[in-house]
Amino acid sequence: MILKKNYPEEVYLNGKWLKHDQAFVSVFDRGFMFGDGIYEVTPFYNGIPFKLKEHLDRLQYCLNEIQIEFDVASLEKLMLEAVSRAGLSKSDAAVYIQISRGTAPRTHFYPENPTPTILLYSFPVNLENFKNRQWKVLVSKDKRWQRCDIKTTALMANIMANEEAVSLEFEENLLVRKGYFTEASHSSAFFVKYKTIYTHPEGPHILSGVTRKQIILLCQNLGIKVKEKAVHLDELVEVDEIFLTGTTTQVVKVASVHSREKELFRAKKNHITTLLQNEFIKLTRP
Ligand code: PDD
Repeated sequence: MILKKNYPEEVYLNGKWLKHDQAFVSVFDRGFMFGDGIYEVTPFYNGIPFKLKEHLDRLQYCLNEIQIEFDVASLEKLMLEAVSRAGLSKSDAAVYIQISRGTAPRTHFYPENPTPTILLYSFPVNLENFKNRQWKVLVSKDKRWQRCDIKTTALMANIMANEEAVSLEFEENLLVRKGYFTEASHSSAFFVKYKTIYTHPEGPHILSGVTRKQIILLCQNLGIKVKEKAVHLDELVEVDEIFLTGTTTQVVKVASVHSREKELFRAKKNHITTLLQNEFIKLTRP
C-alpha cells in the first residue's frame, strides 16, 4: 500500500495562518532537536468533530506529564477554523495538532519558560469503506519506551516497525512486549476469544486510544464482555477475530498475522468485528 500525501495548503503556526511553504520553526526548536513535543489527531465526520473533548483532554494530559505549560482550551476554535479554511466543512477530515516545548539553547533538562511552538492544520481523510478493509499484519518486537501513554512526536520505534511492515507489504504491525501483544504501530489492538474481547490494559505500555475507549463503551452497551488483559503470542491459536482501532483506522479487521517466517493467525470469523463496525458507523454518522 503506497500512501501518497500532499501538504496542506495552509497551516496555523504560533498565532498565524501561513502557506505551508512559508511556515518555519527554529533549528533550535526542541521538537526538531529532541522530539520534545506532543501531538494529537482528531477526526471530523462531514465537518463535525468526533470526541473532540476526549482528544483535547488527552493532549492536556500529555502536556502536563512532560510539563509543557499550555492550556488546550484555546484550540477548539482553531480546529474548527482549520477545517473551514481548508474547505473541508462538508467532508471527512482530520486535524493534526503538534505542540513542542519551544525554542531554547540545547540542554537535556527543561529550559525555563520557553514559549511552546503550536502547529495545527486540517487535511482530508477517507473515513468511508473501512468495513471493506482486511489487513495483513506483521508481528514486531515492541521497542518503544516505557511511557507509551504519552503521545510524543518522537515516534522512531513506531516508524521503524511500520517501515518494516509496509516494505514487506503488510498494512500494520502487532507489537509484542515480553511475549504479550501491546498494540499496533499506529492503532489499538483487540482480540476476540471465546466471545470475549481482550485488549491490553491502559498504562505505560499503550496509548490510551480515544477510539479504543469508544469500542469498550459500545461493547458494554451491547452486553459483549471485555477484559482489559494482554493476550500472549501463544494464545493466538484460541483467537477467532482480531481488529485494530484508531482515529483514521476506525475499526479494521485483521485477516492474518505473520512473523517474518510464517503465518501465525488467520481470521476464523468476523461476527463481533462486523457488529462493532456497524455500531461505530451509527455513532460517527448519526
Ligand atoms: N495514531 N496506538 C498508537 C500507537 C497510535 O499512534 C494511535 C493513534 C492509536 C489509536 O488512538 P486513537 O484512537 O486515539 O486515534 C493507538 C494516530 C492517529 C497517528 O499517529 O496518526
